[in-house]
Amino acid sequence: MTPDVRSSAVPVLEVRDVTVRFAGLTALDAVGFTVRPGTVHAVIGPNGAGKSTCFNVLSGVYRATSGSVRFGEHELTGLPPHKIAGLGIARIFQNLALPPRATVEDSLLLGRHRLTRTGFLAAGLRLPSAAREEARHRERVREIAAFVGLEKQLAQPAGALPYGQQKLAELARALCMEPQLLLLDEPVAGMTADERRRTAAVIAGVRDSLGISIVLVEHDMGVVMRLADSVTVLDFGRRIADGAPGDVQNDPAVVRAYLGEEAAE
Ligand SMILES: Nc1ncnc2c1ncn2[C@@H]1O[C@H](COP(=O)(O)OP(=O)(O)O)[C@@H](O)[C@H]1O
Ligand SMILES: [Mg+2]
Repeated sequence: MTPDVRSSAVPVLEVRDVTVRFAGLTALDAVGFTVRPGTVHAVIGPNGAGKSTCFNVLSGVYRATSGSVRFGEHELTGLPPHKIAGLGIARIFQNLALPPRATVEDSLLLGRHRLTRTGFLAAGLRLPSAAREEARHRERVREIAAFVGLEKQLAQPAGALPYGQQKLAELARALCMEPQLLLLDEPVAGMTADERRRTAAVIAGVRDSLGISIVLVEHDMGVVMRLADSVTVLDFGRRIADGAPGDVQNDPAVVRAYLGEEAAE
């Protein structure tokens, strides 16, 4: 798939000293990392480490108690989610969030809403300019659906697809925004081994063909080690390791954190 003009010149994402406190609990404690343009950066850690909190700060759902998140020239902390989305940052939640009855095609078209110039009112009035624009959007939607392997499912209700395909449809909808940065919270959780492989291949394809940055919040170490260019490891809200996947995987503190989790199960 070809990049969209909007995804050129992807800026660096700089997370600096981000702390998030909930009543009596420090979910993130002065966490920092850098996401280089066009790379997959994984944020991993055992359950309760602060991964989703980090995801929610990046997407504007939670406000950091202190610290800074810069995306190029923009400071993201304090911006509401729709402003962050407007800067070209798309997110996919841990739980399914597609409208269940809409077809895959309509769900993806909704993903392009940010990019529609004429808007849905003009489209409703059947202006020729709106019809041309809609045709262009539908073409891009088909291209993106084919990219994630859902071109045959476009006319089906999204909610009727198997779980793995619904997650791919969510990924496709996020790509329909033509983002510069994609935020994924545990994209392969609940998937079969086959679905995991396929999703990991699609995510790698997004990085390689579109050149956008991806922050991958993930519990599954196997997926991360295959896919990520760099990794930040959290445990109890603190950064315990940061670096290349191979180095991080063998870091004694990381091994201990994951072993501790197994022991607790
Ligand atoms: N909205 C919230 N209110 C209070 N505590 C929260 C909230 N969200 C997360 N936490 C707490 O913050 C810690 C980190 O949670 P979370 O970021 O969901 O971890 P992870 O995604 O790594 O499993 C946990 O102890 C969790 O209970
Ligand atoms: Mg989580």
